[in-house]
Amino acid sequence: MFETTRRRALQALGIGGAATVAGCSAEAPTAAETETQRQQVEGTPTTTTDQVAADPTDIPGPIDRDQPETHEITLAMEEVTAEIEPGVTFDYMTFDGQVPGPMIRVRQGDTVDLTVENPSENALPHNVDLHAVYGTGGGSVATTAAPGQENAMRFKATYPGAFIYHCAVPNLDMHISAGMFGMILVEPAGGLPEVDRELYFGQHEVYTDGEVGQQGKHSFDIESMKNENPTYVLLNGEKYAWAAANRGPIEVNQGERVRVFMVDGGPNYSSNFHPIGNVWKRAYRDGGVPENGDFEAYADKNIQTMKVPPGSCMIGEMDTPVPERIKLVDHALSRVARRGMLAEVDVLGDEREELYDPDAHGTSQEGPQYA
Ligand code: CU
Ligand code: CU
Repeated sequence: MFETTRRRALQALGIGGAATVAGCSAEAPTAAETETQRQQVEGTPTTTTDQVAADPTDIPGPIDRDQPETHEITLAMEEVTAEIEPGVTFDYMTFDGQVPGPMIRVRQGDTVDLTVENPSENALPHNVDLHAVYGTGGGSVATTAAPGQENAMRFKATYPGAFIYHCAVPNLDMHISAGMFGMILVEPAGGLPEVDRELYFGQHEVYTDGEVGQQGKHSFDIESMKNENPTYVLLNGEKYAWAAANRGPIEVNQGERVRVFMVDGGPNYSSNFHPIGNVWKRAYRDGGVPENGDFEAYADKNIQTMKVPPGSCMIGEMDTPVPERIKLVDHALSRVARRGMLAEVDVLGDEREELYDPDAHGTSQEGPQYA
């Protein structure tokens, strides 16, 4: 069984026996393989799209049922050209044409029939490794598909939490950096506590041969990735994707409890995820959630900045007692001020001067502006 899937995977990759493709433990590709893939990417026309930034509000709703179900889920691996910021284009690799890939939402005990499609217009093989899976490579070996192929696997979601999924071919760092990551949320059998609003974000770094803002087509740069020296650090795949400066801000209403799901694709940077002007009232480190339903006892409380390693997630909940613009940032702030990482959430409502009076002495000032 294992030999069959392994052979199939290697055939799909078109590479020899020495390479392994077992998810995160994949051996580093040789320089020649890297260069070959780079040329393939650069030499192949790709589909152009107006938007790769995933809409933070476009996620499946909470699960409200007592019995497990089986889901038929298809992910399309789409290689697309899009703008990182106006006038700067880049060849992304994506799940379903968006960064992060679509949030998959299931319940502990559910079965997932997962099909991956690699369209024939693509240049490269892809697959998916889900950290919610017991199985070789998190499913990456079984799902490896060359352009024009599709593959499928079935798994049971046995443990709850928010988990990353990502492409895990031998050049997995490159594929993740080009956009191939997302989140699968496995709700515990009793569900998550009810909130008023849920948002979904994904942070990652892009390594190009240009400078931030340098107009024209940027190519992927292997050397700067090896040195972990990114050009852009992004939240949802574009510079300031969901800030007022681009497609945002996201709007919520005063008094709502807002739950933020965040996945850090990396491939190399941890995030220091902080809501400026707010706090993670309840926080679930690494996306871990309790199985016994005791969320109050389990959650961290009143956390300012959540560390989110690459290959992990966090769930954080904010209260919104006053009208304000919340800035979601990586508090390694040069990534915000200079490399494009930012989202903004506007809380709409009435001033509550007993909590916050921005004009107490008639000398109102704006706070720090990053975008
Ligand atoms: Cu992984
Ligand atoms: Cu890939």
